[in-house]
Amino acid sequence: MARKNPSMEVAVVMHLLVLAAWCATAASSAKPKVCDKGWECKNSVYCCNETISDFFQVYQFENLFSKRNTPVAQAVGFWDYHSFITAAAVYQPLGFGTTGGKQTQMGEVAAFLGHVGSKTSCGYGVATGGPLAWGLCYKREMSPSQSYCDDNYLYPCTPGVDYYGRGALPVYWNYNYGTIGDGLKVDLLNHPEYLEQNATLAFQAAIYRWMTPMKKKQPSAHDVFVGKWKPTKNDTLAKRLPGFGATMNVLYGDQVCGQGPVDGMNNIISHYQYYLDLMGVGRQFSSDNLDCAEQEAFNPSSTSSSTT
Ligand SMILES: *[C@@H]1O[C@H](CO)[C@@H](O)[C@H](O)[C@H]1NC(C)=O
Ligand SMILES: *[C@@H]1O[C@H](CO)[C@@H](O)[C@H](O)[C@H]1NC(C)=O
Ligand SMILES: *[C@@H]1O[C@H](CO)[C@@H](O)[C@H](O)[C@H]1NC(C)=O
Repeated sequence: MARKNPSMEVAVVMHLLVLAAWCATAASSAKPKVCDKGWECKNSVYCCNETISDFFQVYQFENLFSKRNTPVAQAVGFWDYHSFITAAAVYQPLGFGTTGGKQTQMGEVAAFLGHVGSKTSCGYGVATGGPLAWGLCYKREMSPSQSYCDDNYLYPCTPGVDYYGRGALPVYWNYNYGTIGDGLKVDLLNHPEYLEQNATLAFQAAIYRWMTPMKKKQPSAHDVFVGKWKPTKNDTLAKRLPGFGATMNVLYGDQVCGQGPVDGMNNIISHYQYYLDLMGVGRQFSSDNLDCAEQEAFNPSSTSSSTT
């Protein structure tokens, strides 16, 4: 009985092959652990880290935006902590404020809110509390000089509707309301006024812009800030490097960047640094590639429509 039954040998080999294939599949599809933190962060690896409400609490929001409810502010009673956290809950599972270590997470919240504070401020040089204490003073542009209606095939203007600036990172122009409305699945093209009626939606639209590239194959402001983006050779030649400076480039292009140390850029940086200090991270965290004074725009305004 020197010979084994040949069909049995085949069966054993087949079995081993199947086992090997199963092992390979199991190894390659080993899923990273996902965590669930209730309503605020659900079913994502990012939720395994701290969430925004763990390190950014209502008193900190009040510190950052301490003048927003004084009688001279335009949006008294509109903006609050709860609407920010509710809006953020949609994007935390995608990495907003939950990427990297605690410093990066807090830094991203300060960076995002720095943009918001600068764009909604009614502070000026001699304002009480200083010019940086007045973020979230506005929820809309006060004296629009035009109706911001551009010929657009995809997002034609609705008659009688104006597309002036509204929201936390103010949205201007019909095509931007259209695009962001599509992203949020809310009909902002017909109802841009929703952004000045609902603070949660206004924050959501702003975080959506922060998390979404302007064009395919480009990074988002989130990507360039948290270090998820590797500059190409072209980027390096155009002096675009990861950091806060590039977030301004993504969001505003050559309206703010590549113009030297202009006020519009410095004002956003000042808000970011002020918030870093108030949150206890400290402005020393902000150092690498902080400005975009020398950066060429990702999307030069001569060849593309800009978002603001
Ligand atoms: C969570 O934070 C750690 C550092 O504390 C970081 O290494 C890791 O990448 C973060 N997780 C995610 C999914 O970003
Ligand atoms: C405000 O917007 C949020 C987010 O889109 C939505 O869930 C909520 O129902 C809105 N609130 C009102 C009063 O329309
Ligand atoms: C790099 O820049 C050059 C000149 O601006 C441009 O023609 C080329 O398409 C760019 N390459 C990439 C990959 O973007």
